[in-house]
Amino acid sequence: MMIISGEHSEELGKKVSELSGIEFVKRTLSRFPDDELYLCLEADVEEEEVLIIENSYPDTGIVNCLLLKNALIENGAAAVSFVVPYMGYARQDRRFKKGEAVSIKAVLEALANGVKCFTTIDLHKKESLNLLPPSVKRTDLTAVGTLAEYLKKKDVDIIVGPDRGSRERAKMAAKLVGCESDYLEKKRLSGTEVQISPKHLSVKGKSVGIIDDMISTGGTILKASENLFSLGAEKVYACCTHGLFLNNIFNRLRKVCDEVVCTDTLPEREKIGVKVLSVAPLIAEWIEENLV
Ligand code: R5P
Repeated sequence: MMIISGEHSEELGKKVSELSGIEFVKRTLSRFPDDELYLCLEADVEEEEVLIIENSYPDTGIVNCLLLKNALIENGAAAVSFVVPYMGYARQDRRFKKGEAVSIKAVLEALANGVKCFTTIDLHKKESLNLLPPSVKRTDLTAVGTLAEYLKKKDVDIIVGPDRGSRERAKMAAKLVGCESDYLEKKRLSGTEVQISPKHLSVKGKSVGIIDDMISTGGTILKASENLFSLGAEKVYACCTHGLFLNNIFNRLRKVCDEVVCTDTLPEREKIGVKVLSVAPLIAEWIEENLV
């Protein structure tokens, strides 16, 4: 068994390799003068079962995934599997109007063809994995336990989902923390704007944890935090699995929330000052149960 990563999940891949004691495949990754990606494996993978840990985000992540899969198969690997920590293109999961591409379907088809297992973490909608060919073993892991463990240490009184879709996630985290849960009502006005309707929540004087799958433009978590403070919350911890933090939103969030927390599915988030929790133990556990 071996592990390999591309340009976007190298640190996480190496962490998983250390934790699980599985060799990390040396490879050369560089760019041609026109910026196209070059990949060369520097280890013998013949007859080996190899796990690729690589994001399909940003777009170059998809090319990393395709070249890694091709190189492993062409060089005789016995089986190739994927863990895609942050699955890019997961939000365009249906045709909202005639003529649109179903992006997640296109990306899954390209990546998963010929692989043994395909695993994601807090995929936007885990049902999207039903688009995989039947022969591919699919799993969507969740980092809710990792976030809940942290919130337990912070002694939160309640966990709130910022919208109806995150209700189950909040419930699951609250069960692990041993506190109550609730959710807010969200209406998306545009790609960057959301409206969170004031809902009667008893958060006065309480320490609140918000859990979402991702913070992208931050519109959702910002409005949710403001709403909770306006209802009298004393502290708000804004947590997510995937911290994209577009348009410098972290700087606005940290002025509003007591702490902003994400996991390391996306690299180098600690550099902007976010509290980062690792999903490496979660992936290592999945490997132990499914591949070794
Ligand atoms: C929505 O369904 C998701 O769970 C997130 O709430 C959303 O994608 C976050 O996006 P943003 O940070 O842009 O509001």
